[in-house]
Amino acid sequence: MLTCSADFRGLCRASTILYLSLLLISVLATACSKRNCKVLEACASTTDCGPGLYCGNCTALGKTRPVCTRDQAIIPTSIINGLPFNKYTWLVTHNSFSIVGAPPLPGVQRVTVYNQEDTVTKQLRNGVRGLMLDMYDFENDIWLCHSFQGHCYNFTAFQPAINTLYEVEAFLRWNPTEIVTIIIEDYVHTPKGLATLFTKAGLDKYWFPVAKMPRKGEDWPTVTEMVQDNHRLLVFTSDASKEAQEGVAYQWKYMVENKPGDPGVKPGSCPKRKESKALNSKSASLFFQNYFASYPVEAEACKEHSAALGAMVGTCYKAAGVMPNFLAVNFYLRSDGGGVFDAVDRMNGATLCGCSTITACQAGAPFGCCKNVSAH
Ligand SMILES: *[C@@H]1O[C@H](CO)[C@@H](O)[C@H](O)[C@H]1NC(C)=O
Ligand SMILES: *[C@@H]1O[C@H](CO)[C@@H](O)[C@H](O)[C@H]1NC(C)=O
Ligand SMILES: *[C@@H]1O[C@H](CO)[C@@H](O)[C@H](O)[C@H]1NC(C)=O
Repeated sequence: MLTCSADFRGLCRASTILYLSLLLISVLATACSKRNCKVLEACASTTDCGPGLYCGNCTALGKTRPVCTRDQAIIPTSIINGLPFNKYTWLVTHNSFSIVGAPPLPGVQRVTVYNQEDTVTKQLRNGVRGLMLDMYDFENDIWLCHSFQGHCYNFTAFQPAINTLYEVEAFLRWNPTEIVTIIIEDYVHTPKGLATLFTKAGLDKYWFPVAKMPRKGEDWPTVTEMVQDNHRLLVFTSDASKEAQEGVAYQWKYMVENKPGDPGVKPGSCPKRKESKALNSKSASLFFQNYFASYPVEAEACKEHSAALGAMVGTCYKAAGVMPNFLAVNFYLRSDGGGVFDAVDRMNGATLCGCSTITACQAGAPFGCCKNVSAH
C-alpha cells in the first residue's frame, strides 16, 4: 500500500482529531432524538432518522426492532470525479417499472410478481443510476410488462414505456451532471420502435452514441467528458439487430454479465450468463452484476441485502478480476441497515481510491490514503 504524502498526512491527522471530537460529542450526547438518529440507531418513525434514512426492520433476520435504515446512495462522482465511466459502480433496480401498488389496467386484475416499491423518479432521486426495463409491443404501443410465454398481456402489463422515459428525461434535465443507464430486455419488433420511442420521450438529446462506445475493452470516456458532451444516457438492448438498425447498443458487445435470478445469489459461485463473454474477458470494459432471487419476495429482500451481498460481490469480483460497474437488485430499499447502499459505497471505495468505503476517499489524495471513518 502506498503511504500518504506529507501534505495528506497532515490532512489525515486533522480529520482524525475531528473524528475523535465527534466521537466524544456522540458519547456525551444522550440517545438520538428526533431527526438526528444515525443508521442502526433505534427509531419509532422515519422522522426520528437523519437524512437519507428511514425507520425500518428486518424480521426475516429476526431483527424486529425498527432502526434507521439507509435509503439513499452516495453518488461516487460527488467525491471522486473525472475518472472513466467504467471505474465507477452504480446501483441498478431490476424491473424498475414493476412497482408494488401500481394501479392495474381498467377491468383487469394484475397477476404478476413485483420487484420494487417506489416510482422511477424516487429511485433516481435516491441515487439509483441504472434501470432494467422489459419492453413489449402491446396495444399499438411499447409497454413495460412482465413476460407471460414471451408476450405481454393485460394481466402482466404496467404502463406505456414512454411514461417511465418521461420520468428519466425530467431527471436528466434537472440534474445536468448525472448519468443514467437503461438496460432493455427487448421484445419490441415494430421497426424503429425503440428509436422512435426514445426520441418522442426527448431522450435523444442525452444519447451516448454507439459509435463512441469502446469495443475492445478500452476505458470509457471520463464522466466529465460525458457530462460536457451531454452524453448522459446509456441505452443497451438484448436484441442484437437493433444496433445496426436503430443505433441502440447491443448489450453483450460492451459488457459481461453473470447469470440473473437464483444462480446470481447462490453463495460461492458467479457463473456468466449465456449471452455474455467470459466474466474475465478483457474485450468488454463494463461488468454487470445481477443479485436478485428468481422469485422476488419483499420481506426476504432485507436478508439478501445483508452480509450475503458483500460476500457475493467478492465472489463476482474474483471471477471477473474487476469490480462490477452495475449492481442490480430487487426491492433496493430493503436491508438490515446499510444494505445495497453500503455495498456500492464499499465497491466504489475500493476501486476509486483503495479505501474501505467511498466516504473514506479524499479527492486528489494518492491511492490508498484514506480518511478514518466509522464503520458506517
Ligand atoms: C486512523 O486511526 C488509527 C487508529 O484508530 C490510527 O492508527 C491511524 O493512524 C489513523 N489514520 C489516519 C490516516 O489518520
Ligand atoms: C417491519 O417492517 C414491515 C415492512 O415495512 C412493517 O409492515 C412492519 O410494521 C414493521 N414492524 C415493526 C415492528 O415496525
Ligand atoms: C387491456 O387493456 C387495455 C388498455 O388499458 C384496454 O383498452 C383493453 O380493453 C384491455 N383488454 C381486456 C381484454 O381487458
